This record gives sequence, structure tokens and C-alpha cells, in this order.
Amino acid sequence: MIEQIITASTFTTDEQELKQAVAKAALDLIIPKLNTKSIVGVGTGSTTNCFIDELAAIKGVFDAAVSSSEASAARMRAHGIHVMDLNATPYVDVYIDGADEVNPAKQMIKGGGAALTREKIVAAASAEFVCIVDQSKVVPVLGQFPLPVEVIPMARSFVARRLVDLGGTPVWREGTTTDNGNWILDVHEFMIEDPAAMEIEINNMPGVVCNGLFAQQSAHVVLVSSSNGVDLL
Ligand code: 5RP
Repeated sequence: MIEQIITASTFTTDEQELKQAVAKAALDLIIPKLNTKSIVGVGTGSTTNCFIDELAAIKGVFDAAVSSSEASAARMRAHGIHVMDLNATPYVDVYIDGADEVNPAKQMIKGGGAALTREKIVAAASAEFVCIVDQSKVVPVLGQFPLPVEVIPMARSFVARRLVDLGGTPVWREGTTTDNGNWILDVHEFMIEDPAAMEIEINNMPGVVCNGLFAQQSAHVVLVSSSNGVDLL
């Protein structure tokens, strides 16, 4: 079972080592804060997968995890980690997740793995957000990575036209359905000068469920791995 869910990495050794290093650093950071009542929020993606594999080693130290995706929940359950529904948890102590881009203000673009909506919910429900990335994800200005926008399927073309009006070039991520049954538009060539304002503007479009800007609520801590080790942003 574990072998089926924990698939072999498609990354080169160097990339994988950077992901593992930052995942291990996140575990070291949170361990002193955990107790047998702690609930750990867990994100989605290849860097988070490394964190899940680390978390498995200390599963007796905390109570349960809350997941931002079916994929991460399955990986955790395969490790024997107790996964709870967010509705059944009165609090989440800390949320650990990767990002597609992060700027010096600790604002992020997320959603490369199509889990942005649940990620934003679990992040918002958590007392602390620890973002784990390698150096390639740190940018001065957000927007080189296409901005994912989760849309209700019947609103796809309407929202796409609105995003064009805003100056972006939306591309439908065909073949991808989110855990919530919705579709993703990836918006290329966006000038994201004010991430918090743009986050609100896109979320206000009818048919948009959520967009991948995490700017109104940024990360509290960003751990960045490079060939020199792991540092705080
Ligand atoms: C998934 C996400 C991921 O955190 C983001 O795509 C980074 O993934 P990876 O660690 O594989 O580079 O937002 O929706």
C-alpha cells in the first residue's frame, strides 16, 4: 500500500535533496511546539510529500493531521498518520506547505498541484503557516509562475474573459479536476504589482472559487533550502 502511494520521485537528486532538507528543517522547527493534542495542517506537492515522510517518524508526538488534498491524506494514511476532517478540529496548530513562488513579503503563488482552495482554507484555520521551498521559488515579484484560479466549470469562459480584461492570458488546465470538482485556469503574463489587491479582485469574480495568491494572509515563516543549507527568508 505505502509503495503504491509513495511513488518514486521524478526529480533529479539535487532537487530532491533540497526538498528533503527543507522538509527536515520544518520538522525540526515544529517538533518543540508539538504535544499529544497538537493538530498539524499539511499541504500538497512534492516538497510537502517529503515533509509527510518526515512527519511519519514522529506520529506519536502529535494527535492528528488535517490535509489540504486527497493525495496528501492518502499519503499520510499510508504512513499510519491519523488524518482528521477540518470540521472535526477546533484548531490547527501549524500548517506546513510548499509554494510555487514566494516574494520577500512572504506572499505566495500556490496551486501548481491544483489544491489551492483547500490549502488556503487549512492555512487560514492554522495558527502558524510555515512555507517550505527551495531557492528557485524565491522571486522579487510574483507572477512569472502562471497564477492558478479555481473556477466553477460552467463559468470557465466567462472568468477567462474577465482575466483577459485584467491583462492576463488564462489557459485552461484541461484534464485536471480539483478535489472540489472544479476546473483550473492558469493565468500567464500577469503583472502582479499588488498581490493582496489582485487576490481580492479575482476572488470577487462570479464563478471564481479561489485563486492561488496567498497575499492577504502570507506565510509566518518561510524556510528556503539551497546548496548552502536551509535559511529563513
Ligand atoms: C499545490 C501547491 C504546492 O505547494 C506547490 O505547487 C509547490 O509544489 P512542489 O513542492 O511540488 O513544487 O500549491 O497546489
